[in-house]
Amino acid sequence: MGIFFLPVLLLSSTLILPSAPTDTITPSQTLAAGQSLISAQGTFELGFFNAAAPSSSYLGIWYHKIPIRKIVWVANCKSPITAQNATLFLTTNGNILITAGGIRTVWSTNTSSTKIPSLKLLDSGNLVLTDGGSNAIIWESFSDPSDTFLPEMELGLDLRRHLERKLTSWKSPDDPSPGGYTYGVRRTGSPELVLKNGSNIEFRTGLWTGVSWSGIPQMISDAHFIYTFVVQPDQIFYKYESINKSVMSFITVDPSGHIQRLVWLDGQWRQYCTLQLNNCDRYGTCGEFGICNVYYSEGVCKCLQGFEPRTMVDWTLMDYSGGCKRRTALACSGGGDGFVKVSGVKSPDTENVTVAAGVGLEGCRALCLGKCSCVAYVMVGENCLWWTGKLMDIKEFAQGTQGGVDLYLRLAAADLDSAESASSMRKHIVAVVIPLGLAFIIFSCFGIYTLRKKRKQGVGHGYVKDSRGNEMELPVFDMSAIEIATNNFSDENKLGQGGFGPVYKGHLEDGQEIAVKRLSRNSGQGLDEFMNEVRLISKLQHRNLVRLLGCCIHGEERLLIYEYMPNKSLDSFIFDKAGRCQLSWQKRFDIILGIARGLVYLHQDSRLKIIHRDLKG
Ligand SMILES: *[C@@H]1O[C@H](CO)[C@@H](O)[C@H](O)[C@H]1NC(C)=O
Ligand SMILES: *[C@@H]1O[C@H](CO)[C@@H](O)[C@H](O)[C@H]1NC(C)=O
Ligand SMILES: *[C@@H]1O[C@H](CO)[C@@H](O)[C@H](O)[C@H]1NC(C)=O
Ligand SMILES: *[C@@H]1O[C@H](CO)[C@@H](O)[C@H](O)[C@H]1NC(C)=O
Ligand SMILES: *[C@@H]1O[C@H](CO)[C@@H](O)[C@H](O)[C@H]1NC(C)=O
Repeated sequence: MGIFFLPVLLLSSTLILPSAPTDTITPSQTLAAGQSLISAQGTFELGFFNAAAPSSSYLGIWYHKIPIRKIVWVANCKSPITAQNATLFLTTNGNILITAGGIRTVWSTNTSSTKIPSLKLLDSGNLVLTDGGSNAIIWESFSDPSDTFLPEMELGLDLRRHLERKLTSWKSPDDPSPGGYTYGVRRTGSPELVLKNGSNIEFRTGLWTGVSWSGIPQMISDAHFIYTFVVQPDQIFYKYESINKSVMSFITVDPSGHIQRLVWLDGQWRQYCTLQLNNCDRYGTCGEFGICNVYYSEGVCKCLQGFEPRTMVDWTLMDYSGGCKRRTALACSGGGDGFVKVSGVKSPDTENVTVAAGVGLEGCRALCLGKCSCVAYVMVGENCLWWTGKLMDIKEFAQGTQGGVDLYLRLAAADLDSAESASSMRKHIVAVVIPLGLAFIIFSCFGIYTLRKKRKQGVGHGYVKDSRGNEMELPVFDMSAIEIATNNFSDENKLGQGGFGPVYKGHLEDGQEIAVKRLSRNSGQGLDEFMNEVRLISKLQHRNLVRLLGCCIHGEERLLIYEYMPNKSLDSFIFDKAGRCQLSWQKRFDIILGIARGLVYLHQDSRLKIIHRDLKG
């Protein structure tokens, strides 16, 4: 930006003193480095901060009361200030201006207002420039977001004002300049939110079903947050509200492209949820007409019914990106085509979808059958959405997950029949399960990692809040319930003794069988570390890993509650003469393959990328 001469500046004289916090400035005041505006309730603060290279500074907004500074907005992310005397001014013609090193303009708004403005930092974190006369907003920081999505902010498009409000990641954790990732509304076809790396889609949310995104059913309005997606002719936006306004929480796109929600709890920013859990959330992992689920026994991808891998060799090498091809060409208008229902999935990419309103499910089917090019349809509320061309990025959820959409996939008669007979045959799959041992090995890896970090924290009462904040992610069991379930940790219920303590079998009141790991009391682990580990492990979901159902903390006791594996540990077969004979070579091969698949998940397909260094059977 060029050099401005600013006669208005000559009038500026009053400086805001740090000792007198205020939330507003007018054209007769300035804000210099070291000074700040603080919102009325003291939630947010606006000022200059230093990042990355100590010599560059930025105008930003952060939580005022929180010791671990989280910058929620940066004005001049594209033009860092290297001079010492950065100053913010309001011009009498309704603009904000930052100068540094003399009268060089570093950053400014570009409104065409002619009114005398006033600039105010609100408790929502929004910095608003209003026309001092009528109080109409002429500019606001919420319409120019950085990497942080705050409650009440609207992420999306305002077609009247030609605004596109999307998140842009930072370049690195301490460099606010724009990074490679953007997250916002894509309007083409049927709108959804997409995360892009440059121009490539990295992740998409799927269609809005009315209550949640079809690709992230776990992110649904609950006791803590209310989510809304508004689609109108002149605006499309996503927003959320925090029910308890004093809970500090935000959604952010970090420099490596992870979208997550953090909540301030017990003196830390804690991860409440993350949108990308595993490889199935990476766009196009399974290619066109593929469907993704980390629970499949054959790998993370399958072809939709009536389709087969385009290049079989790539699939056996676990490169699924080439996708699938149709087995039998559609008959088109000649008749004979039908539909197979794929229930509860993340909707395919809606970029090229066509929307027909108010035709009903039958009408939608007829509409699709009537077009030779239509390959699938979905009903969402009153809308019939139909696809031509390819179906991309479909994800199936773990059993028991509610949500997603029902996709009706068009197939030729031949494939319909075989699809029906295949499903009626009900293949009997023998599940190969890595015994409890592996889950504990994973646990110990985190143990080493977190102990290395040596971040000792006060424990005790803080925990109650903590568990409440995360209750949706992992149930916390009552000690008395576990005592009843395990018959007071009786010897009859003892399944074995592992490196970290004994394991007991138990029956919950509802009849569910569980395995309870009672961790040694002298593990030396703090409560925070324990909770962090439990939360991490609970995010691992794979059919070959034992599911962690929850935990229990009671005084000194730390318990982990797993699903019960009736066949016990593999070593009880291997080191037993009779047991050994039951293991045919085929079975042994299947077990080895199962373990390897579990490892592939940990090493590659899980978002956490766990290396475990002590593999036992
Ligand atoms: C800022 O510093 C430069 C020299 O580095 C000086 O010329 C200028 O007057 C200063 N501006 C303000 C507003 O103090
Ligand atoms: C400021 O806005 C005007 C139109 O309102 C536009 O023509 C101009 O390019 C903008 N300037 C900058 C620096 O964005
Ligand atoms: C993002 O895009 C850049 C440039 O195209 C590429 O080098 C990088 O690997 C991409 N990142 C991911 C995670 O795909
Ligand atoms: C809201 O959150 C604050 C801070 O976490 C907590 O102290 C307060 O009890 C909560 N209020 C309600 C009504 O849950
Ligand atoms: C949408 O159509 C464009 C243009 O034909 C094509 O390049 C793109 O791959 C299509 N996207 C999807 C998801 O089908």
